[in-house]
Amino acid sequence: MNFELIEHALPMLLVGAGVTIEITAVSVAIGFLIGLFVGIARICQIKVLRIIAAVYADCIRGTPLLVQIFLIYFALPIVTGHRVEPFAAAVAACGINSGAYVSEIFRAGIQAIDVGQMEAGRSLGLTWWQTMYYVILPQAVRNILPPLGNEFIAMLKDSSLVSVIGFEELTRRGQLIIAQTYGSFEIWTTVAVLYLIMTLAISRVVAWLEKR
Ligand code: ARG
Repeated sequence: MNFELIEHALPMLLVGAGVTIEITAVSVAIGFLIGLFVGIARICQIKVLRIIAAVYADCIRGTPLLVQIFLIYFALPIVTGHRVEPFAAAVAACGINSGAYVSEIFRAGIQAIDVGQMEAGRSLGLTWWQTMYYVILPQAVRNILPPLGNEFIAMLKDSSLVSVIGFEELTRRGQLIIAQTYGSFEIWTTVAVLYLIMTLAISRVVAWLEKR
């Protein structure tokens, strides 16, 4: 183990870790918004919306994130004629992907609330959407929070896939440093430890949130 190499590479890897956190946070934020609407659409009373939402969730969850990244970064520009920036391609692919998983989390979290809650809201004169917003969603948050934390952790690890389009997050930086130093063992170990520190930190925060 060449500790000097690790010491030398650490500042660059830490910058990469920062970039990893950044794409993860932006992607999960996009995924949260998409997931909230798609999750509700999957159980709403409008059939067309239900179908569109189900097709989206199935297509995204049924194809690899890696292929989705290639589609957005390499295939889309051929159709539109415009180059996509690596950062935009990374967060678009990860955000759209995350949205499909988050929509399932919302759907399951909402469906776990007793149907009597919706019936009670409706019989008091609230509309379906009002009952959803004021009665169902506040209760569903309890069910939704833990799997949402898991999604954040999963996305943080899966964001390493965007290294294939040359986006310099933690994994890509590790590759680049190894190309110069040949220190595979030291660098990949350090990269793994950095991912571990980040995922452990997130699970601690989620555990704390759950308690509250
Ligand atoms: N590993 C799966 C895939 O390649 C899931 C990737 C996305 N992960 C996530 N938590 N949204 O498609």
